[in-house]
Amino acid sequence: MNAIVKQLTGLRDWVDDRFPLMTLWNDHMGAYYAPKNFNFWYYFGVLSLVVFVIQILTGIWLVMSYKPDATLAFASVEYIMRDVSWGWLIRYMHSTGASAFFIVIYLHMFRALLYGSFKKPRELIWILGMFLYLALMAEAFMGYLLPWGQMSYWGAQVIISLFGAVPVIGGWLSEMIRGDYVVSDITLNRFFSLHVVALPFAIAGLVVLHIIALHEVGSNNPDGVEIKKHKDENGHPLDGIPFHPYYSVKDSVGVVVFLILFSMVLFFIPEFGGYFLEDNNFFPADPMKTPLHIAPVWYFTPYYSILRANTVNFFFVPAKLWGVIFMGLGVMIFFLLPWLDRSPVKSIRYRGGLFKGALAIFVVAFVILGYLGALPPTPGRNIMAQICTVIYFLFFLLMPIYTKLDKTKPVPDRVTH
Ligand code: HEM
Repeated sequence: MNAIVKQLTGLRDWVDDRFPLMTLWNDHMGAYYAPKNFNFWYYFGVLSLVVFVIQILTGIWLVMSYKPDATLAFASVEYIMRDVSWGWLIRYMHSTGASAFFIVIYLHMFRALLYGSFKKPRELIWILGMFLYLALMAEAFMGYLLPWGQMSYWGAQVIISLFGAVPVIGGWLSEMIRGDYVVSDITLNRFFSLHVVALPFAIAGLVVLHIIALHEVGSNNPDGVEIKKHKDENGHPLDGIPFHPYYSVKDSVGVVVFLILFSMVLFFIPEFGGYFLEDNNFFPADPMKTPLHIAPVWYFTPYYSILRANTVNFFFVPAKLWGVIFMGLGVMIFFLLPWLDRSPVKSIRYRGGLFKGALAIFVVAFVILGYLGALPPTPGRNIMAQICTVIYFLFFLLMPIYTKLDKTKPVPDRVTH
């Protein structure tokens, strides 16, 4: 045993003389001091990483049998599901992983809202996170075309044709995205290339930048107290503990619980009642047959609702263009959060009723928008979506006012337990 340890230590030192292995390890794990009061909400960063790895690994195996060709794609997915050894498992891991990714990302973003993690000095972590969110949306959207089912085809058709609403360059832009006048084999090929090569690289690069930025300023925590203000004689934060082994062990518990829940969905309800894999996508794409009801997958439905809530033409601008504008703004407005929030405190624990109320109403509106976006529109649902869209935007637009007026509580000097 001792001989093996000696050999391994020797190998480590050999590498370390030629590459900053131990420096990297210490900067990001062994000597990275994280606040000692992390709670449940702090699992979702590492879970995002876990799901990303699941998606990359299962993706690599899917590509071994998938055919990016409009005449073969649907059948190749069926082949993976029925004939490839364990193909069904790999495919369901990937499709369930897509939804799991958005679940953990939405919770990860919500944590930032709860504890003001986007506020100074963490604005750049937030902005890089938002670029990750955009890249993930593009990744999921393009991936959904690949099985070449009815929803893949018509979903892409609807969303790409939205770009046609942009004045002057709209027609050109949607043709550029499709590479054709309609969604076709050419579109499938370019989406395949972006989904499998370009975007995963972009996401991996952004994750590295996101974590470097986080480790430069240090993690926030449920009290929103900067732990670097109080250090011991060795320069270590008094309220900090080394990430490894304390959080590496704690996070592994979270990862195991997550994998249990993930497996339950994977093995028992992989379609999740049509929310994770839509019923219509079990039929091959048919350009001659438009499905009665076209809806995107659940993680896009809040924005789809905002798009559909715009039903009137005004200021010489057609309703469709307003829809596209508000849908785009609905996503982009998150970038501005660090500057919209004027509160002197970060964590919800020390904020007043105004912020707590606004956040609660916003979450309810977001969930209702998501629910409505998956249903066919009716006049009643449109009104509901319009009300929720107004609430959605007021949450951001009024933020500088209500966060300034809010009665905050005094923030403790050190973290609490
Ligand atoms: C692939 C996607 C992502 C991965 C792998 C990822 C990973 C991580 C990890 C490992 C952490 C540190 C642990 C933690 O605080 O939970 C973190 C922190 C953070 N992330 Fe992400 N993240 C992703 C996307 C996002 C997105 C979309 C946003 C927001 C738009 C975001 C905002 C933040 C913020 C503000 C922090 C600092 C939190 C704090 O210190 O309280 N991240 N991320």
